[in-house]
Amino acid sequence: MIDYLWPTPVLYDSAPWSEAEIEELRQFTVDRFHAHKTCPPVHGLPDVDVKLRVQLNLFHEHHEVHAPDVWIRFKQWVDSVYRKYLLEAHGVRNVHDLKLQARCIPVRYLPGMRAQPHYHHTCDHVLCLYLDCGRGRSPPDQRDWTVGDGELILQDPRPMAGFPFWEKLRYIETFPGLVVLHPSRVWHETNPFNAQGERTLLVVTLRVMSHNYCELYTDLGGSALCP
Ligand SMILES: [Fe+2]
Repeated sequence: MIDYLWPTPVLYDSAPWSEAEIEELRQFTVDRFHAHKTCPPVHGLPDVDVKLRVQLNLFHEHHEVHAPDVWIRFKQWVDSVYRKYLLEAHGVRNVHDLKLQARCIPVRYLPGMRAQPHYHHTCDHVLCLYLDCGRGRSPPDQRDWTVGDGELILQDPRPMAGFPFWEKLRYIETFPGLVVLHPSRVWHETNPFNAQGERTLLVVTLRVMSHNYCELYTDLGGSALCP
């Protein structure tokens, strides 16, 4: 289902994967996560140091040699979901002609952790497949909404958005098997994961690499550090 928030097309649906397939994907994600936080590089402007987590792409051969059988079908499914989204949400009639690229990132949280507010640069859209949302979570209708528990929060992308203020954030309840696909520039975050166990998901950043002048870009040939 694609919901038009604010209006911004956001797809959320139950993915077609069985419990066994979700478990295969979860184990692979956790296994590949081990290098995710090692040796974080420092990215910074002179007075703004930012430590980012090491970013991986599980679609690289280096990782795919360890992938379970379900992996190839997962990758094909991502491609299919994205093309259907582009057709339905944006009316791209020649969607099957597009060259698409993707990066797949393993994400794993322990209790108390959350995703800080962020958007995704250098891509057009983001797909999340939730694999594990922990144990002992309170039912949404009984939850203390001043605390929350792992909900995905999407923020209204319009600057100076007006009344009504309570429509500016959209909360999406997460569960294993949930797929969400949204434009990469939408600011988003999660409430802290307050249950037990682990919270595991695959994040795929997606970009269209044809029919949009990408091939016309060239290197500038200089360096910002050597004027
Ligand atoms: Fe994100």
